Amino acid sequence: MRKSLIAGNWKMNKTVSEAVDFTNNLKSALRDVQDVEMVICPTFVALSEVSKMLEGSSIKLGAQNMYMQKNGAYTGEISPLMLKEIGCRYVIIGHSERRQYFREDNKSVNAKIKLALKYQLRPILCVGETLSEYQNNQTIDVVKTEITEGLAGIDNEQMSNVAIAYEPIWAIGTGKTATPNDANKVHKIIRKIISDMLDAKTGEKTRIQYGGSVKPDNINALMEESDIDGALVGGASLSVESFIRIVNYDKKD
Ligand code: 13P
Repeated sequence: MRKSLIAGNWKMNKTVSEAVDFTNNLKSALRDVQDVEMVICPTFVALSEVSKMLEGSSIKLGAQNMYMQKNGAYTGEISPLMLKEIGCRYVIIGHSERRQYFREDNKSVNAKIKLALKYQLRPILCVGETLSEYQNNQTIDVVKTEITEGLAGIDNEQMSNVAIAYEPIWAIGTGKTATPNDANKVHKIIRKIISDMLDAKTGEKTRIQYGGSVKPDNINALMEESDIDGALVGGASLSVESFIRIVNYDKKD
């Protein structure tokens, strides 16, 4: 049984003081949640303050990115060692916005995943197709390349600390979502790709989140699908009320 993993990717939103206020409210509202693993991913500058506030809470801290070196002359970058020290447990790697705006490729994604694991950070590897790739039926090819190249050289044991987020790019911030059934088909294929790369047991254990316009009113249907193990939530994670409703997806109002 895979424990659900619901993560909020705040992207470039919330100042440090806003992040602190928000975390305070979220922490008390989600005090009693046990069946879902919850992660919030604030901006780099807010991580340290938010980390202090999450002490004793079951909400875990994640970063939105990291560099693939431990330290050195890389102006403007943040290393996994730094993230680890301030209490991060997760790190999002290869988000489509990073691939699109900062030219990240599968090779750098792979290097980041390996270094994250070395510093006991759990990577959330993001994969997904653009609208034109979707329209040209290239979803599976794109996802397969992103996974095989992104996870090259990762062994079974390391894979137990990696989660995948399938985020169709055309669904991010657009209000459009893949239908739960279509998303689930891709998730099944992702699981098969991982099983073929490693083994069936590892494929079965890997948590695969869906991301792209996840909202309180579509989370239930998504989570009912056999291979959707959680969500990577952007816009709807910025409001305490909607993030709480998403995390409590299986509770009737
Ligand atoms: P939205 O939920 O705003 O569509 O963003 C999804 C996303 O990119 C999460 O990483």
